[in-house]
Amino acid sequence: MSETKLRLYLCTGPHCSARNSAALRDQLEMALWARGLDATVEFHTSGCQDHCDYGPNLLIWPGPIRYYGLTPAILEQIIARHLKGGEPVTEQFATPEMRRKPR
Ligand code: FES
Repeated sequence: MSETKLRLYLCTGPHCSARNSAALRDQLEMALWARGLDATVEFHTSGCQDHCDYGPNLLIWPGPIRYYGLTPAILEQIIARHLKGGEPVTEQFATPEMRRKPR
């Protein structure tokens, strides 16, 4: 039986970078390795995900599931509950209204 890998895309666009997404990237990379999740999770960084006012943002496929407002503590919950436990952290889901409006 083949298992679908989760694909993670952490935004490293200008707004999310200004909110320290580089530190979240390091935290995530270390956690995936330390907890043996690299066999079931594929991790990438991305450009802007159009939810700039609510970043740092993380997109997960299959889904899409969009997490917003990441802090180290929230990312730890996502790692433990979603990536390890299979239960998405629904209270941290972004909503369609958070998407950047065209100017
Ligand atoms: S810079 Fe991250 S959503 Fe725009």
